[in-house]
Amino acid sequence: MQAAADGARQSVREETRDLLENSGTFQLGGFTVHRLGFGTMQLTGPGVWGPPKDHDEAIAVLKGAVELGVDLIDTADSYGPDVTEDLIKEALHPYPEGLRIATKAGFTRPGPDEWVECGRPDYLRAQCESSLRRLGVERIDLFQLHRVDPEVPAEDQFGTLKGLIDEGKVALVGLSEVKVEQLEAARRLVPVASVQNHYNIANRSADGVLAYCEQHHIGFIPWFPLASGKLSRPGGPLERIAGEVGATVSQICLAWLLRRSSVMLPIPGTSSHEHLEENCAAADIVLTDEQFQELTDARKELRRWALLG
Ligand SMILES: NC(=O)c1ccc[n+]([C@@H]2O[C@H](COP(=O)([O-])OP(=O)(O)OC[C@H]3O[C@@H](n4cnc5c(N)ncnc54)[C@H](OP(=O)(O)O)[C@@H]3O)[C@@H](O)[C@H]2O)c1
Repeated sequence: MQAAADGARQSVREETRDLLENSGTFQLGGFTVHRLGFGTMQLTGPGVWGPPKDHDEAIAVLKGAVELGVDLIDTADSYGPDVTEDLIKEALHPYPEGLRIATKAGFTRPGPDEWVECGRPDYLRAQCESSLRRLGVERIDLFQLHRVDPEVPAEDQFGTLKGLIDEGKVALVGLSEVKVEQLEAARRLVPVASVQNHYNIANRSADGVLAYCEQHHIGFIPWFPLASGKLSRPGGPLERIAGEVGATVSQICLAWLLRRSSVMLPIPGTSSHEHLEENCAAADIVLTDEQFQELTDARKELRRWALLG
């Protein structure tokens, strides 16, 4: 099995250029993006705090992502904090035509692994100004509310996002970790281009939100897209299908997501150029109907075992 994965890595290196074309594209507001993007949260120190261990590799990964065809990069003011936005500017500014950078605001960071929601309008505005400056842009392509702060009236947070669009500081607005009711409430005040929720082959608790996004042509950006839990156990369905396809388990996770919905926009994160290439090459994997169905049903099987066990 390891031989199959190593073989897949080898062919990835030889064939990756332009493979993102095969991920298809999505119309995110007025922007057309490949459906497979890149997330930058891994380009910090431990606990999403401070600079990355290897600054040059982080810069190489960002440059490499764009060279491989990535045109949607996800970041946040709180990654580092400030670290990943600075790295993006250092690696990629002046930005190539068509590259879209999605950032977020709505958390303060008291320390490593600590995240405190803060959706006060003055804070969101201040963070938007800082992101504009750090990224070196006049308008943020996609500005996402990282969390809806339960301590601040939701309409004040959504209204602030609308204000930032009206002032031309933000092109599109997205939300993160929301329920359908919050999404509907937000859409009464501001157009919502994307939702970023925890979702992957093993955790589909956001299926209802995904269905809503499909109905309203809202981009659905799954975070932790590579997590697969017990589904990747030795001899399990992920490993077996990866062997059949000649791919790695990570690639099968991404191929399953891309097939799961046409509004799905995975942003796998990595600090390694090798993993970046491997992840981009997942756009080229075509699962058969049977393989897709087996992977889709695999979670039910896990639940049955959990009940039996
Ligand atoms: N909205 C939110 O609240 C929220 C929360 C979390 C994340 N996000 C966003 O979502 C993006 C993706 O999530 P994530 O980065 O946390 O999780 P992920 O993409 O599911 O997985 C990242 C992990 O997998 C490893 N990895 C990456 N490619 C691999 C490969 N081909 N083979 C083996 N291991 C591989 C990485 O390590 P290496 O560095 O060693 O490759 C890292 O440990 C983040 O970068 C961030 O932009 C958003």
